[in-house]
Amino acid sequence: MTQSSPTPIKDALQCTAPSGAIRVQGWVRTRRDSKDFSFIELNDGSSLRNLQIIARDSLPNYAAVQRLGTGAAISITGSLVPSQGKGQKWELVADNIDIIGTADDSYPLQKKGHTPEFLREIAHLRPRSNLFGSVFRVRSRLAFAVHQFFQDRGFVYVHTPIITGSDCEGAGELFRASTIDMKNPPQKNGEIDFAQDFFARPTFLTVSGQLEAEAFALALSKVYTFGPTFRAENSNTSRHASEFWMIEPEMAFCDLNGNMDLAEDCVKYLIADARKHCPEEMELFARFVDKELLARLDFVIERPFQRITYTEAVDLLKSGGQKFEFPIDYGLNLQSEHERWLTEKHFKCPVTVFNFPKEIKPFYMRSNDDGKTVAAIDLLVPGIGEIVGGSQREERLEMLEENLRRHNMDLADYKWYLDLRRYGTAPHSGFGLGFERMLMFVTGVANIRDVIPFARTPGSAEF
Ligand code: 4AD
Ligand code: MG
Repeated sequence: MTQSSPTPIKDALQCTAPSGAIRVQGWVRTRRDSKDFSFIELNDGSSLRNLQIIARDSLPNYAAVQRLGTGAAISITGSLVPSQGKGQKWELVADNIDIIGTADDSYPLQKKGHTPEFLREIAHLRPRSNLFGSVFRVRSRLAFAVHQFFQDRGFVYVHTPIITGSDCEGAGELFRASTIDMKNPPQKNGEIDFAQDFFARPTFLTVSGQLEAEAFALALSKVYTFGPTFRAENSNTSRHASEFWMIEPEMAFCDLNGNMDLAEDCVKYLIADARKHCPEEMELFARFVDKELLARLDFVIERPFQRITYTEAVDLLKSGGQKFEFPIDYGLNLQSEHERWLTEKHFKCPVTVFNFPKEIKPFYMRSNDDGKTVAAIDLLVPGIGEIVGGSQREERLEMLEENLRRHNMDLADYKWYLDLRRYGTAPHSGFGLGFERMLMFVTGVANIRDVIPFARTPGSAEF
């Protein structure tokens, strides 16, 4: 290795033979002194594991090395030799230690274990901890696996817009995107005149790329989006973020069954990928976050998910003998406690609930022949509840127009979307998988704030 190319610690630890001169760089996790040398545990984030550095007292800057605190950044050249100590195969005997950036005693990540709540307050430093380093390596790996899953199946990746004029979910949970001077807005008939705004119309941050993905599915057949999504939903729960990432496949010539199959395959694939490619991180989660994690995930991969209609779900909830905080009856939304009872207590496995009453679902879902329900799916998993929401879309022009009217939506705003039903309409289906919820499920981490680098939640957008 030359001076210019440092060896990732992950690779150094996997060497098969001793190595004369390598260079590693990273941050000091711990340092302790022995009689005539100092041991440094070095981590560079390439893996969970540290490389042990032996700094002999013959180093010219040994006095400075002895002052190195946890958190300092250093670069070391030396020889990789079989380790004398337990727990590691190799250690690095330093010929030279460059001190790049020191860290004093006020560095908040001293050796002791910290609570996730404390670490959330130092979100800029927490990726240097074992837990968060692991979470974010798994996040990176799973993002890659998402692309692999869809690309292997012939899906085309579409970048749907972040700024949009439509409220896909019709839930009114939109962040406005505007350059209007809030102190002195242009007015018309006593209201703010958004015709004078940047885009000459009201615009918002997207709550879903679905509507635009539909346009592409009705051209490229199988597409997916994977990007940031924004919801001004004032729910302060462990499962809601105001900015989160969503994976949204959309398939032409696909009905609800094909949609359920894809959602199930996708969830299983992502779990299997993390089990295969992130074994050390998964072990860490199983040890420190959730003892049942690996058994649960393996069980989920192996078995088919349960599928039941909304009506069956409500009947089970009413007859199950369980007291709930929120009542449940036909026509009401399933609350998190209901979802979790179904998946955790009753079926003890993931459950796909389908065919919901049309009143509680968005305008774009396809009406079933019963006149009461729409072809919707919600995939529920233990510990979280809903992880996927999707549907077959209403492909019939008149029916879609009727739905828009029923939801008091302006047909003129959806002209382009209605065009998709005017020209070469076809049955099509898709869903949204919440990436952070998927990560919570895979890692066992119980709060969504801990699987996204810098969480945005009501009242909180620090960093
Ligand atoms: O069920 P949702 O609202 O569905 C849609 O947005 C559809 N347009 C998707 C589609 O069919 N293309 O959201 C989909 C998923 C949820 O199941 C959940 O996993 C996640 O997105 N999600 C959130 N994740 C974190 N924070 C929030 N506030 C979320 N809202 C939804
Ligand atoms: Mg939903």
